[in-house]
Amino acid sequence: FTVLVLNGPNLNMLGKREPSIYGTQSLADIIAELSQQATEKHIELKHLQSNAEHELIDAIHQGFQQVDFIIINPAAYTHTSVALRDALLAVAIPFIEVHLSNVHAREAFRKHSYLSDIALGVICGFGAQGYSFALEAASTYLNKAAN
Ligand code: DQA
Repeated sequence: FTVLVLNGPNLNMLGKREPSIYGTQSLADIIAELSQQATEKHIELKHLQSNAEHELIDAIHQGFQQVDFIIINPAAYTHTSVALRDALLAVAIPFIEVHLSNVHAREAFRKHSYLSDIALGVICGFGAQGYSFALEAASTYLNKAAN
């Protein structure tokens, strides 16, 4: 199976950015650990972080018929992007929405997501571990769907 991990704007700053909220691990560290977990599960992991909405949309389009599952932290685009929602609907690739922070315990504008109702599930509040939980869930889902 192929799993595409997408990270949205400002997540390139992980480790340095508001560490009390987002943790001290860099995105490179998180992806390295996730890649190891993927290898153990015989999953091919692809990753893109972008600060540009269209690059995330292009990556979703490119995944059409090539990617089995998407793990996405849309970051601030969670709360703004109808275009990301439409891209995910267009390719119909099952996906999990991940947030490092508990978006429900923060500003009111973070409570609404344009993606949650079309996601397989949402994981938030567990820091970098959320990506690992998502990969675990993706693996279970894909193996079930294949049998
Ligand atoms: C985030 C939460 C978003 O509200 C915020 O805009 C981010 C990161 C998270 O991982 O907790 O950039 O998606």
